[in-house]
Amino acid sequence: MKTEDRNTVIDQLLILQGADNSGHGLDHVYRVLRLAREFAEELKDADRDTVELIALLHDADDYKLTGRKDGSLENAERILNLITITDGQKKKVLQGISTIGYSKRLSGITPDTPEAAIVSDADMCDASGITGVLRAYQYNMKFNAPFFDEDVMPMDEIDVGFYKSDLTTAVNHLFEKILRLKDLMLTEPGRREAVRRHEAVVSFLDAYFREQQVTEEWRKLLDKYR
Ligand code: ADP
Ligand code: NI
Repeated sequence: MKTEDRNTVIDQLLILQGADNSGHGLDHVYRVLRLAREFAEELKDADRDTVELIALLHDADDYKLTGRKDGSLENAERILNLITITDGQKKKVLQGISTIGYSKRLSGITPDTPEAAIVSDADMCDASGITGVLRAYQYNMKFNAPFFDEDVMPMDEIDVGFYKSDLTTAVNHLFEKILRLKDLMLTEPGRREAVRRHEAVVSFLDAYFREQQVTEEWRKLLDKYR
């Protein structure tokens, strides 16, 4: 991709996502971009430019950012129209973006190209690890929700309705979503990275639970994820 085109995309994203504090800021986009590039190095059948564009634009139309829940990709489409790109590639990028996201996965939508699979893995990895713990903390701070409440145990199974509506504690969010992510990886490098990040979240909770002197029930729950 021409540097000029990449800069055009980034300028537009700065306007859209530059001030976000819901966990979809440009810092998230850059981390996903770097991780996706790293995964793509190993997976030679993926087209690099397509991976980069899907990574850059994957949250441009997220409902937490736009307030739109109709699934339309107006921002991504508008931005793609500002750069030099073939119709085929534009279609592939938009199609890829439309298959990425945790709630989509819960409702049965899975990326079906190597490029979208790579970005999906990178996006989910960024919700895990120490970065994921901090994002969950940031998200809950924004809504004044507690980080941990010993009296509220996590749910066993989360459906899409619950995921989109309910605000749990950050610790419960780690159990309800983040510690399940490693099983949703679609590529080999993604799986390897997700396992490392999973272990980091478990270590974090292990130390945190010791400091909080939590009940046996919480410690047993954590043991299931080791
Ligand atoms: P993604 O962009 O990875 O698909 P989301 O849009 O679901 O993620 O959420 C953005 C960030 O906020 C993620 O790091 C996610 O884990 C976190 N988050 C979402 N819902 C909650 C919640 N109920 N409690 C704490 N953190 C949350
Ligand atoms: Ni994302």
